[in-house]
Amino acid sequence: MAAARKIIIDTDPGQDDAVAILLALASPDEIEVLGITAVAGNVPLNLTATNARIVCELAGRTDVKVFAGADRPLVRALRTAEHVHGDTGLNGPALPSPTMPLQDRHAVDFIVDTLRHEPVGTVTLCALGPLTNLALALEQAPDIAPRIDHVVLMGGAYFEVGNITPAAEFNIYVDPEAARAVFACGAPITVMPLDVTHKALTTEPRVTAFRDMGTPVGRAVAEWTDFFERFDKEKYATPGAPLHDPCVIAWLIRPDLFSGRFVNVEIECDSDLTRGMTVADWWGVTDRTPNATFIGDLDADGFFDLLTTRIARL
Ligand code: BDR
Ligand code: CA
Repeated sequence: MAAARKIIIDTDPGQDDAVAILLALASPDEIEVLGITAVAGNVPLNLTATNARIVCELAGRTDVKVFAGADRPLVRALRTAEHVHGDTGLNGPALPSPTMPLQDRHAVDFIVDTLRHEPVGTVTLCALGPLTNLALALEQAPDIAPRIDHVVLMGGAYFEVGNITPAAEFNIYVDPEAARAVFACGAPITVMPLDVTHKALTTEPRVTAFRDMGTPVGRAVAEWTDFFERFDKEKYATPGAPLHDPCVIAWLIRPDLFSGRFVNVEIECDSDLTRGMTVADWWGVTDRTPNATFIGDLDADGFFDLLTTRIARL
């Protein structure tokens, strides 16, 4: 079997971020989590850094290194999403405050040092929130770009357009300048936009499968889902809610569950109306150079089977 892929998870937990972290920690044969870097996004940084550790402790993984990063976007005021995720970002089950420490080093320094010290092309960056930490790392140390194996990120949309504005998805909208820098960095990029995550929908049987595991982790996943589903069910009139961020980790384990196109993606930063829009050349109508694989579809049953099987191991 191939060696486990080394990853850094950059994240703003967030219930769906939490499920993504659990999926990674439950998959040691395929994935080695070198560290988790928190960024401001769904809620402010002090909460995302706390939530990342709550999730590691829930999984019994107090050994995972968690770092705090940027507390605000590169040039804009922080926009948060308590209306979706609750005031802590992880509303739902009552979970204990973490006792494991936050690492002293800044998340951006950890990303830079790791990419410089690990062999070239062996570290994958998994981004589940605004791209501020990644952009700061690339700005501080442009030499890391050619050392990155892959960037896999949740963000953007083409057919689904937007969720935080009519034109923009939340992670890209919060820090469009950071997104622009990451999409221009030259590393291989795979994107999980709303076009695919809106097909990774929870349903009652899928949530029941988590609840019926009878484990603290299974119960927590079901209760997180119960909490954040209320918002999307009402908004989209769907039977469940999209599990956005776990798509990033699932793609590392089972890329065969996903399909997309290698296209050019540019980020709109200037227009007040469409700021944060991911302008994806899905139909190939420009001669712009492709820079990202933009995923459009997934096998939702296969995705939830994977999630359930893996989460049951924790
Ligand atoms: C993204 O925004 C956040 O609210 C979720 O955690 C996900 O990363 C979806 O637009
Ligand atoms: Ca997120």
